[in-house]
Amino acid sequence: MIGRLNHVAIAVPDLAKAAEQYRATLGAKVSAPQPLPDHGVTVVFVELANTKIELLHPLGAASPIAGFFEKNASGGIHHVCYEVADIRAARDRLQRAGARVLGDGEPKTGAHGKPVLFLHPKDFSGALIELEQV
Ligand code: CO
Repeated sequence: MIGRLNHVAIAVPDLAKAAEQYRATLGAKVSAPQPLPDHGVTVVFVELANTKIELLHPLGAASPIAGFFEKNASGGIHHVCYEVADIRAARDRLQRAGARVLGDGEPKTGAHGKPVLFLHPKDFSGALIELEQV
């Protein structure tokens, strides 16, 4: 059911420092910081040949990644995003299998303007999974 790895998201405490590290030290192509107020994050997109890395930094007081930094002050891998062809069909199949979908279960528009859902990390070996319909 899942297709390509769309991106890996890394929560970073210092966005400028992390972006510069990916650009200068790792030699990757990085975007300018993009504030996404609806998602409570500022994102730098790192383009790789076969996937993307998203550097996430909290934006606003109610950022959904604020809690992550309480447990991981130096940052860390926040989630992985897999592509699916039909996000509602994927959700239904996962819920039938007992997996928990975060929020109200309805797909939201993600950082790339496509429908996304998140799956409870406790149901997937401790990893937060995002599904994106492409
Ligand atoms: Co994501």
